[in-house]
Amino acid sequence: MDLFIIQGGTRLGGVARVHGSKNAALPIMAASILTDAPLTLTNIPDLADIRSMLALLDRLGVSMSANLASSRLTLQADDPSSFIAPYDLVRKMRASICVLGPLLAKRKKAIVSLPGGCAIGHRPIDLHLKGLAALGVDLRIERGYVIAQAEHLTGTTIDLAGPNGTTVTGTCNLLCAATLAKGTTVLTSAAREPEVIDLGELLIKMGAKIEGLGTSTLTIHGVTELGAATHEVIPDRIEAATLLIAGAITGGEVTLETVRADHLTSVVDALTRMGCTVQKTHRSMTIRTFEKLSPIDLATGPYPAFPTDVQAQLMALATLAPGKSRIVETVFPDRFMHVSELVRLGAQIEQHGNTAIINGCRPMNGAPLMASDLRASAALILAALASQGETVLRRIYHLDRGYQRLDETLNQLGAKITRVADVPENLPEESIPGSDLLAGPHWLTKPAGVSESAEGRTSL
Ligand code: EPZ
Repeated sequence: MDLFIIQGGTRLGGVARVHGSKNAALPIMAASILTDAPLTLTNIPDLADIRSMLALLDRLGVSMSANLASSRLTLQADDPSSFIAPYDLVRKMRASICVLGPLLAKRKKAIVSLPGGCAIGHRPIDLHLKGLAALGVDLRIERGYVIAQAEHLTGTTIDLAGPNGTTVTGTCNLLCAATLAKGTTVLTSAAREPEVIDLGELLIKMGAKIEGLGTSTLTIHGVTELGAATHEVIPDRIEAATLLIAGAITGGEVTLETVRADHLTSVVDALTRMGCTVQKTHRSMTIRTFEKLSPIDLATGPYPAFPTDVQAQLMALATLAPGKSRIVETVFPDRFMHVSELVRLGAQIEQHGNTAIINGCRPMNGAPLMASDLRASAALILAALASQGETVLRRIYHLDRGYQRLDETLNQLGAKITRVADVPENLPEESIPGSDLLAGPHWLTKPAGVSESAEGRTSL
C-alpha cells in the first residue's frame, strides 16, 4: 500500500490532460456482454477499477486485448456459458452490478453478488431490480446474491425515481437490458448524466434503437441482435473538476486539455460564484483565481445539478473562503467522511444531517490523514496542497481506484507530492519518509504540568 507525503503551499500552474471517464468506461465495458462481436474502446483510463472490471469480464467469458498504457481495449464475449459474478470480484467495485442487465438481456440468466456496503453510505439496488422485474425477469435474493432469469424480456414503462433522485448505474443496467427486449421500453425519471449518454451512444453504434438520450425519458425499441462497434469514451468530468479546484485552491492558473466544458456547467457556475474565472474553448478550460474567494451555498443533485462526486473537493475549497459556506448533499446524505479529516488540517466545519456548514478562511496546517473513499481522498489532497507544511495521507488505494496517477498530474503542475510505500506492519515507522509527522507532535510546546515518563508516555 502506498501513501502520499504532500508539501503544501505551492501555487499550481500549467497544462494538464484529462483522462477518459471511469464512470462512463465501466458500464460501457459491461455492455460487451450484449454481443458476440468485438467492441473496440479508446480513451480508457488506466485505473484499479478498470482492472477489476476486466477481471470480472474475463470470468464472464469475455476475451480481451488490453493496452491500458495506450488507453485502448478490445472486448469480445466469445464464451456465453458463464453468468456468475462472484462476491470476490464484485466486492472490489460496486460498478460490477453493471453486468446484471447485459447478462439477463443476452444470456437470460445471472447470478450476481450484491455489492454490499460502502464508505459513502447505504447504496441499495432496489430500483435496478424493480426495473428488471418489470421487464419480466424472475429474481430473488439468496445468500448475498441476486439470482435472476428470464425466458425473454418484454418492453414496458419503468419509473426510476428513488428517494434521492434517479439512479445512474440503474439507468445503465435497464438501458442495456431493454436493447434486446421484445417491444418498446420507456424509462421515466432516467438519469441524464453524460456517462449514461455515452453508454447510449455506444449502444446505438452497436445497433440499438434508443431515443431521448440526455433527457429523463428514454425510449428503447428492442432489436434481436447487437453488433461490433468502436467507441471513444468521454473525458472524465470529475477528474477535470478536481483539477480545476486544484488550480483554485492554490491560487494558481491551470489549463485542462481534452475536457468537455459542456459537462461541467454546474461546477463552473459554482467556481465562478466563489470568485474564480474559468475560460472555455472547444476542448480546453483555464481557471484563474485573482481575488479572495467568496463563500458558497449549494446542494448536490443528479445531473445537470452539482455532482456529488465533486462535493468533497468543493468543500476543501470552501474552507479558504472567508465567511460561512453551506453544502447540502442530497444524493448520498451520509457522504461526509472527509469532514473530520479536513478538521484535522484546521478547517472549521459543522455537520448537521446532510448539510455541512463551513466557516472559511481559517489557516490550515499539514497533518497525518487517512483517506476513506475515492473523492474524499482527492479532497484531502487538495486541502493538503493549500495547507502549510507537510501532510501524510494514508490509504491512497482509494484514490488509485478512480484517478489515473493524480499525484503525477498535480506534480506536473508544480505540486510536491511524493508517493512512498506505506510501512509494512512489521517494520518501524521511522523507516519511511514523513515518519516525523506520524510519530507525534514533537513540535508542540508542552503545556505546563505535562512531563514525559521514563517509558516515553505523557503523564499529567
Ligand atoms: C454512480 O453510482 C456513480 N458510480 C457514483 O460515482 C456517483 O456518485 C453516483 O452515480 C451519483 O452520481 C458509477 O457510475 C460507477 P445512483 P450509482 O444509483 O449509480 C439511491 C464515484 O465516486 N438509489 O445514481 O451507484 C442511492 O442510494 C462514484 O466515482 C436507490 O435508492 O449511484 C443514492 O442515494 C461513487 N435505489 C441515489 O439513488 C437504487 O436502486 C443515487 O445513486 C439505486 C440507487
